Amino acid sequence: MESGPILTVINDLEIRPVVADDIDALRTDLETKYLLHERLRRIGAGSRGELLVAGRDGQLIGHIYLWEEPADEKALRANLRGVPLIMNLWVDPEYRRQGIGTILMEASERRLRLRGHRRVALGVDTENKEAVRLYQDLAYIRWEHGEIETHRDHFLPTGHFVTTETCAIFVKCLTETARPPRADHHVQAL
Ligand SMILES: CC(C)(COP(=O)(O)OP(=O)(O)OC[C@H]1O[C@@H](n2cnc3c(N)ncnc32)[C@H](O)[C@@H]1OP(=O)(O)O)[C@@H](O)C(=O)NCCC(=O)NCCS
Repeated sequence: MESGPILTVINDLEIRPVVADDIDALRTDLETKYLLHERLRRIGAGSRGELLVAGRDGQLIGHIYLWEEPADEKALRANLRGVPLIMNLWVDPEYRRQGIGTILMEASERRLRLRGHRRVALGVDTENKEAVRLYQDLAYIRWEHGEIETHRDHFLPTGHFVTTETCAIFVKCLTETARPPRADHHVQAL
């Protein structure tokens, strides 16, 4: 099975760019797989961004997407021009509460920082308490422009459609928080 080059190893978790075989191996639902294949297709077609996967002992257990194109949402383009978005963070339910979401977020922030970005943003449904707490723990701050309707792409064999989701937007300054990795994170940049 083909796999991408390892970008970093944090504790025993390997972070790499996703290849098509990875998507098929993830234990995620079919609609998410279609979405990830579409993300990968966009990157292959020259869109700026990165789709990363986290794996341990040959098992793929999480993914995250870094969107570096202008946002679909007007409010984001107007208020956060040029700021990349973190999307599609997911950790296999069997492996949650073990710090993997945190590692994926921090690895993504490092990637964005390396590419010269000074801020990063994301949208989250405030009912998603686990995710909100994770972002707050990582020093994301809720913006002052209120909640917005964000686009949610659905790619199905029958076609593509978009629904909307009300989300709060959280932003993080990547320059102020360029702190060293957590003491319990053994980071190997490869
Ligand atoms: C949100 C998600 C990615 C978190 O992944 P994870 O690997 O469990 O996250 P971590 O183990 O790094 O947790 C980090 C912190 O997040 C918070 N958190 C995570 N899961 C939580 C839960 N079930 N209840 C309360 N807080 C939680 C805690 O602050 C936690 O720190 P702690 O374990 O030291 O208390 C995971 O729950 C997930 O995949 N959810 C479904 C997809 C999703 O909602 N993605 C986000 C879309 S915006």
